[in-house]
Amino acid sequence: MAHDPEGDQTVPETTGTATVRATGVLRPHAEDAFADELAALRAADDRPRPPRWRLSPWAVATYLLGGALPDGTVITPKYVGPRRIVEVAVATLATDRALLLLGVPGTAKTWVSEHLAAAVSGDSTLLVQGTAGTPEEAVRYGWNYARLLTEGPSPDALVPGPVMRAMAEGLTARIEELTRIPADVQDTLITLLSEKTLPIPELGREVQAVRGFNLIATANDRDRGVNELSSALRRRFNTVVLPLPATAEAEVDIVSRRVEQLGRSLDLPAATDATDEIRRVVTVFRELRAGLTADGRTRLKSPSGTLSTAEAISVVTGGLALAAHFGDGVLRPGDVAAGVLGAVVRDPAADRTVWQEYLETVVRERDGWQDFYRACREVTQ
Ligand SMILES: Nc1ncnc2c1ncn2[C@@H]1O[C@H](COP(=O)(O)OP(=O)(O)OP(=O)(O)O)[C@@H](O)[C@H]1O
Ligand SMILES: [Mg+2]
Repeated sequence: MAHDPEGDQTVPETTGTATVRATGVLRPHAEDAFADELAALRAADDRPRPPRWRLSPWAVATYLLGGALPDGTVITPKYVGPRRIVEVAVATLATDRALLLLGVPGTAKTWVSEHLAAAVSGDSTLLVQGTAGTPEEAVRYGWNYARLLTEGPSPDALVPGPVMRAMAEGLTARIEELTRIPADVQDTLITLLSEKTLPIPELGREVQAVRGFNLIATANDRDRGVNELSSALRRRFNTVVLPLPATAEAEVDIVSRRVEQLGRSLDLPAATDATDEIRRVVTVFRELRAGLTADGRTRLKSPSGTLSTAEAISVVTGGLALAAHFGDGVLRPGDVAAGVLGAVVRDPAADRTVWQEYLETVVRERDGWQDFYRACREVTQ
């Protein structure tokens, strides 16, 4: 590790192809951020492990859902939701079918995929980000063109993609936003997943997946129709749908936990008690999402944005930064009002009307919401 002369931050250092992991990184990978928990689970885990898994399926599920180990180590919950969903996802990874995590935006698909890969393989970085421009090489392999030109196709000139590396080493590969990938590139995955082989015609070779290899893909419900998954590809996957949090309490719990974790990694001073404001943000988001007030009495129009749990987390984190740096450290309505407005009003014309109607008919009349009403009025011009 090199030392930054300006401060005591450890800076990343590259040795050959391996990057030494730095301690001051903004967002460590799951396997680094939760290395202690993973090590404790590994030590306590005496159940059978599938080939090349670092933990048993039981321990992987415990890592995701949280629990306490016999030695007293507390495993924090990463995913808050139905246990069965996690169990099905983990069990799928122990079979020859790949796992597709499906759901509306902000339902923790990426988050769960990262933690699953970290717990199963100890490496969540074998990742292909799906976009409309994802080329076949990203899924298969590419070439070091300098070497390709001088040496011709050779194993040394080959640059394996993340999926190919996962196959060769028996690890978990991840594909984000599968349905954004063009159909012909998606088709590459069909052979790969059914034959568990990746041919390299240029070298007259193939890479055969070793045991332990599997793939987790995520896809967004709202993207459906962008690039429909072909039925041939869909059959290669076991689909697990991640739901929106069932109750307001569950959503408040998720937001509180994540905000606390994020606040720690950003070194924000801890807020005394943010629960009231978190509950308020979650209530606003849930009511507008559902198009109905929590008491079921008033119908509302829904804005165009998704108002996901993930956005509630950002609104509260942003509010805490305001409270910490410009307020007295207590999260107040004025700290979240602008964030809520920004999340709700995506389309300046239509959403603004929806918001104003909600503000005047619901927020204004609600007991104990006067401060929030005034703060919202101040930012809504
Ligand atoms: N049920 C949940 N349990 C724990 N964390 C959650 C839950 N739902 C949402 N989150 C949090 O929301 C944040 C965003 O999740 P993530 O990015 O994984 O969503 P996504 O489903 O991949 O969304 P997108 O479709 O926009 O890619 C994460 O920080 C995650 O911790
Ligand atoms: Mg995602």
